[in-house]
Amino acid sequence: MFERLQQRWKVKGLQLVVIICTFAIGGSVTGYAGRKLMNLLPVDNGWLWSVTYIIIITILWPVIILAISIPLGQYGFFSKYVRRIGVRLRLVKPKENSNKSHLQEVRIAIFASGAGSNAQKIIEHFRNHDSVKVVLIASNKPDAGVLKIAIKENVPTLIIDKEKFFRGDSYLGELQKNKIDWIILAGFLWKVPVALINSFPDRILNIHPALLPGYGGKGMYGQKVHEAVLANRDNESGVTIHYVDNQYDHGKIISQAKCPVLANDTAESLAQRIHSLEHQLYPAVIEQLVARK
Ligand code: GAR
Repeated sequence: MFERLQQRWKVKGLQLVVIICTFAIGGSVTGYAGRKLMNLLPVDNGWLWSVTYIIIITILWPVIILAISIPLGQYGFFSKYVRRIGVRLRLVKPKENSNKSHLQEVRIAIFASGAGSNAQKIIEHFRNHDSVKVVLIASNKPDAGVLKIAIKENVPTLIIDKEKFFRGDSYLGELQKNKIDWIILAGFLWKVPVALINSFPDRILNIHPALLPGYGGKGMYGQKVHEAVLANRDNESGVTIHYVDNQYDHGKIISQAKCPVLANDTAESLAQRIHSLEHQLYPAVIEQLVARK
């Protein structure tokens, strides 16, 4: 639950605790103030009392929560939170996108061939982001799990045909039409054609489930990587995020994170550990990079 709240509100550790405390204090103070106010009104117990009480606490709550958030240093979070509720209830007009913020929008396409757990985490991470948007999910496999995620998350999809990808325009037309700024490979198992690499210089990222330069290259993906790590009896593995060049798992390394390989690990248990590491690292690294350019 806490992990979901962290992702939804884009806050971490201590700030999450302070926010939850602010909600708790705000709720209690609102209830207390509401009852005090009700004592001053000539309304008898009954349905009218309940309706009036609900109206009073609905008005009091945003005022009280904003007031409490100031000394707790959370006014920035709560002013946006209250505003969002106002927009949902159609009491407040949504902010119009100024031309400036439109120009600054960073549009991401995710390319994936498999289950799509990384794609899911990236979508969640940027769901309410001010400027970064996941606008396309492309896959070379029409039955890939990632496409179901795209449908669930309302992200448009693109099925990649081998002929067009490698011998046609590599989907440059579609990517340009969608104004894609960055391509994020998340378990995409085809080599990226040179035409795409040249059109997105240093704007294509890949994640690999091992510590490159070890265990990379053609045919090294998913379980095969973990099986090779176990066969070599390594005592650590990890993940690598790198720019994509014209060789498999080869471009400049951006970030790596390590995890232990345990004596009783199977390829599945190691894969699970690596996946959790990927889910933490990839969205954060993407945000750092795309926000900088
Ligand atoms: C991930 O572990 C990713 O590192 C790997 O495929 C998996 C996709 O999982 N990529 C490679 O092996 C690339 N050489 P997912 O579909 O659950 O995100």
